[in-house]
Amino acid sequence: MKFWRKISKFNSVRSPMAAVMFAVVSILSVGVWLDGTQAQSLRNLPEAKHTDGGPEACLTCHGGREMTLMAETPHGDADNPHAPYGQQGCESCHGPGSLHVSSARGGVGFPPLNDFSYAGRPKEGQFDTCLGCHANTSGGRLGIGWLGSSHDVSGMTCSTCHEVHATENPLAELAGQRALCASCHGLTNSKHEDFENNGIQIETLQCATCHDPHDL
Ligand code: HEC
Ligand code: HEC
Ligand code: HEC
Ligand code: HEC
Ligand code: HEC
Ligand code: HEC
Repeated sequence: MKFWRKISKFNSVRSPMAAVMFAVVSILSVGVWLDGTQAQSLRNLPEAKHTDGGPEACLTCHGGREMTLMAETPHGDADNPHAPYGQQGCESCHGPGSLHVSSARGGVGFPPLNDFSYAGRPKEGQFDTCLGCHANTSGGRLGIGWLGSSHDVSGMTCSTCHEVHATENPLAELAGQRALCASCHGLTNSKHEDFENNGIQIETLQCATCHDPHDL
């Protein structure tokens, strides 16, 4: 009872119930007020720019192996002006990070970057990033199709099949690629039935030998 009296006194209300209501309303209002300040400070943010620090600016915090290994992949080739590391580093894919890295802006938080999770972020932003480099053949890259393909309209993103924070590419191997395609399509298909009669051993061929997964 002491506690109720204390609150009642503090809030100058008489009944314990009213005191509880008052306390709840106060806590909720503080929450709303905090949210308001946060929204306010987000509104006042300067626009994010690319950092000058390159990948090192990100690796200070994101120093795990799956991050440092990017330097060993084709995307991490700093000598290739067409590769992310020949341009803005991590930020070529994740977007301008100046605000994100600024010591969490005094505790206000880390403004989100492109995290490539389809559920979390609009997939158009992901396509803009990847296709920005891969939809054309500049720099000797193989240009790929995608927009409007069966896989695009079924809601997939590039990350459904590709893992870029990895040194191995299982899709380039027969077993890895067949396993991926089979996870949705199975390995047997009535449209393939005649192949055996024509001397084609389909199990020795990558699916991508005949089907372009980016443009079907
Ligand atoms: C080629 C584009 C590309 C580059 C370069 C790149 N990333 Fe990523 N990053 C991705 C993709 C795509 C994912 C989603 C997981 C995947 O597909 O491997 C991801 C996932 C992440 C995640 C996990 C986020 C989540 O919620 O899944 C973090 C953190 C991250 N990257 C940070 C970095 C840092 C730090 C660097 C530089 C050292 C970097 N990335 C370089 C494309 C890139
Ligand atoms: C000062 C430490 C710090 C630095 C430097 C930093 N990050 Fe982060 N990053 C974080 C933290 C903490 C989170 C988790 C934030 C959350 O969950 O709210 C995060 C989350 C992320 C995510 C996940 C998706 C998201 O936005 O929530 C990505 C991608 C990412 N960082 C990329 C980068 C890149 C690229 C750089 C370099 C430009 C970078 N980070 C630099 C601390 C840092
Ligand atoms: C700044 C340009 C750039 C961006 C952005 C970019 N890439 Fe690349 N990517 C390259 C270059 C350059 C190569 C090296 C091979 C080549 O020249 O085709 C490459 C190679 C690849 C490869 C082949 C990897 C291998 O092991 O041979 C895949 C798959 C790929 N990228 C997927 C992606 C995906 C998915 C994204 C988006 C998350 C992405 N790329 C974003 C430039 C880029
Ligand atoms: C349904 C699965 C699937 C999806 C989704 C997918 N790919 Fe691929 N991709 C493959 C396969 C299979 C290969 C061929 C094996 C290899 O070379 O890695 C490939 C190859 C590539 C290559 C290498 C081409 C070469 O031979 O140089 C690039 C670059 C690439 N994909 C980019 C992308 C991008 C960008 C997206 C999103 C717009 C995407 N992929 C979506 C399955 C997929
Ligand atoms: C995440 C599930 C998934 C994966 C992985 C996947 N597909 Fe698909 N694929 C689909 C869906 C969904 C469709 C569209 C509906 C349909 O036609 O069955 C489709 C359509 C197709 C079609 C028919 C296109 C048409 O003419 O309508 C072919 C061929 C195909 N995929 C081949 C592949 C190959 C080859 C791979 C591996 C590189 C692959 N798929 C990986 C889900 C997947
Ligand atoms: C030797 C070339 C070849 C190989 C290798 C191959 N396919 Fe096919 N596939 C075809 C042809 C040709 C068709 C019939 C296309 C049509 O009728 O439009 C077909 C049809 C399909 C269809 C059905 C499309 C529809 O319209 O119903 C799917 C799904 C498919 N293949 C998936 C795969 C997968 C997964 C692999 C790897 C395990 C694979 N294919 C390997 C040539 C091939």
